[in-house]
Amino acid sequence: MSHFPELRLRRLRRTEPLRVLFQETSLEASNFIYPLFVTEGHKVRQEIATMPGISRFSPDLLPEEAEEVIKLGIRAVILFGIPSYKDEMGSEAYNPNGAVQQAIKILKKEIPELIVINDVCLCEYTSHGHCGCIVDGYVDNDKTLELLARTAVSYVKAGSDMVAPSDMMDGRVGAIRKALDKEGFNLTPIFAYSAKYASGFYDSFREAADCAPKFGNRKAYQMNPSNWREAIREVEQDIAEGADIIMVKPALPYLDVIRKVRDTFNYPLGAYNVSGEYAMLKAAAQLGWLDEKRVVLESLTAIKRAGADVIITYHAKDAAKWLAER
Ligand code: PBG
Repeated sequence: MSHFPELRLRRLRRTEPLRVLFQETSLEASNFIYPLFVTEGHKVRQEIATMPGISRFSPDLLPEEAEEVIKLGIRAVILFGIPSYKDEMGSEAYNPNGAVQQAIKILKKEIPELIVINDVCLCEYTSHGHCGCIVDGYVDNDKTLELLARTAVSYVKAGSDMVAPSDMMDGRVGAIRKALDKEGFNLTPIFAYSAKYASGFYDSFREAADCAPKFGNRKAYQMNPSNWREAIREVEQDIAEGADIIMVKPALPYLDVIRKVRDTFNYPLGAYNVSGEYAMLKAAAQLGWLDEKRVVLESLTAIKRAGADVIITYHAKDAAKWLAER
């Protein structure tokens, strides 16, 4: 093995063509998933204060937005609903005529090639803001499973291509798989939010989706940020229950977990670059403290380098534009 001065690692960094030739990780717009917030009504577009550049859309305005997404080379969106009606059981989540179900129908009709993924969770739909139904002040796991399965089936009946349970109940992947298969949807994949941490980086999203818990927090179901071995067990469990794609969320503060999961399982892996990660870079860029394009592309590259195959990110449209310019 040679050493300096015979060995000079800078040789392969000397010119741009050399740097490009030996680049190990590359970003593609086709590996991004763009989140869309669906609100009720007609011709409604509301900007989200905590997430500059991101809006809530009524179903009728979604195809226009999705058309832009497709033109940039992004193939998939993930939908989140913001209902006006909320109750203890989150029943609007599985209303066949809910805003999300309408959104799926209109998107699949207008842009059939768009991959429509649906986040499956009750927190936007419950009056208390928790991800399941409450029994004696505690989110009841097994009762919640039935509601989640019902919600997933209603999205797939409306035409959804894939469901992504984000609630962190035990057994949800199995319950959803069973319910989908029973209805004949055995080809619909499940993208499991397997290792989802109880993170402070979701606060911008909770503002956007109006789903902050009215009491307590989500620590009794989402994971402790200190734990990585538990993340492996969560992923193992989801795979055993039939998950097709697994996920680590958030992304940037958990790159080590993404890497561990990548090295442990040969499953397609997603990472969710969450609202707070987006808000941090946006805010610093607005203040002129950071160069947005550089730090966004660097961050997304880091998530890929850590081992993610696909990235759910609010930066998707901007990043796709910047990648096309290069
Ligand atoms: C619903 C859900 C949340 C996010 C995705 N699905 C909020 C939460 O768990 O509190 C967060 C997404 C983001 O912050 O971008 N359970």
